Amino acid sequence: MHSVIAPSAQTSNAALADTDDSFGTKEQPTPARTETQDMTAANVASPKTPASAPDIRTELPGPKAKAWIERDHRVTSTSYTRDFPLVADRGFGCAVQDVDGNTFLDFAAGIAVCATGHAHPDVVRAIQDQAAKLIHICGSDFYYEPMIRLCEKLAEITPGDEPKRVFLTNSGAEAVEGSMKLARHATGRKGLIAFHGAFHGRTMGALSLTSSKAKQKTGFAPLIPMVWHAPYGDLDAVKELFQRQADPSEVAAIFVECMQGEGGYIVPQASFLKGLRALCDEHGILLVSDEIQSGCGRTGKWFACEHFDIVPDIVCIAKGVASGMPIGAFVASQRIMQWPPGAHGSTYGGNPIGCAAALATLEAVEKGMMANAAEQGEYLTSRLRAICNDHDIVTDVRGLGLMIGLTVCDRNGTPSASLRDAIALEAFNRGLILLGCGETAMRFAPPLCITREEIDRGLDVFKQAIEAAGH
Ligand SMILES: Cc1ncc(COP(=O)(O)O)c(C=O)c1O
Repeated sequence: MHSVIAPSAQTSNAALADTDDSFGTKEQPTPARTETQDMTAANVASPKTPASAPDIRTELPGPKAKAWIERDHRVTSTSYTRDFPLVADRGFGCAVQDVDGNTFLDFAAGIAVCATGHAHPDVVRAIQDQAAKLIHICGSDFYYEPMIRLCEKLAEITPGDEPKRVFLTNSGAEAVEGSMKLARHATGRKGLIAFHGAFHGRTMGALSLTSSKAKQKTGFAPLIPMVWHAPYGDLDAVKELFQRQADPSEVAAIFVECMQGEGGYIVPQASFLKGLRALCDEHGILLVSDEIQSGCGRTGKWFACEHFDIVPDIVCIAKGVASGMPIGAFVASQRIMQWPPGAHGSTYGGNPIGCAAALATLEAVEKGMMANAAEQGEYLTSRLRAICNDHDIVTDVRGLGLMIGLTVCDRNGTPSASLRDAIALEAFNRGLILLGCGETAMRFAPPLCITREEIDRGLDVFKQAIEAAGH
């Protein structure tokens, strides 16, 4: 047993080591109060990150984790990547505890999903209350209040003044699939354009738009026809594509991430997005903003497209919208979402528990966490830039709000995937969860409730990881 970061905290955090108790029945550790928690507490309850996190007590993986991983490897699909041997047992705010009682600071939030932090009390309560009332009835066939309230809220917060309609899904990929169908239905055209580096999901339609890693597509052809890709950020390349490959009169929609996520956390020039909007207007093409990773307050605004003054025709939503319950949506103007009953549907999409979790999440985001994402995003960015000044192997910090990336390079200044992975592993072994993205980028996407003090603790570990991996 060893604690890399906070040996003195072991005793005070001892209750956390016993993971046999069921969630929520054991007394939780008292978190340190901070400015941000006080700020959000004025409006919403804050989830509690243990003051001692990170706290690593066993070698990783620990004995219980090892046993679970062995069992997992016998039965789960070999397609799961599993970069780190974390067997998660419970989460608290910006921390996750594994089955051996090791506590990690979570700067990935389940790929930008746990927006309000792990186990936000308002979200947990909303889920529990809804589960006790109504788990399922099928929103394609019947009506229920949480679905109506969520659709109203999503119509309200998505950009654009026109009255809107909302379709609720189970996942991000399903929101993209539905948007593809809607775009074809609304325009009567078949063609679709997306960008190199884009990630839109893994179901056959969404996968056709994805252009992130070749292995995600290898062996799955034929994908859907009449999909073209252009380099991200390059408006001239889209115009050339119109000249050489796809007449705009055949293009139904352009799908774009207003900040590219899996492709490497890349912030485009405003002129690129404004240019796309103008091209779409000129040619009667729908502009679809995939806000699945960037949406719902993560960038400090409801949606990344707002940073660029773009009003998309369709907005895809999932991930952070419900803090981890599987629900997504696509939102379009009433003018566009005009299709007959039965044209699209879903058994589970917009299930009552997901809707309740989303409503609680959006309330917490609106009442403080979105502002916190903007404020702490600036702080995290400036601290990462200072770290880059002191360490040659990290560079190019970029981002919006709490969606921040940087590039890892070797000593010669060449971007390096192996060094990026080594830093992430060193960080993990010290109790900080970080995920890479793109070829050589490291992403920082913590819960939106993160405090300045938690950022400092995480970055102390990040610096140690850079030093360990870089030598
Ligand atoms: C921008 C974007 N679109 C779509 C998806 C697919 O979402 P899901 O994994 O919920 O299907 C993702 C997932 O990472 C994403 O980041």
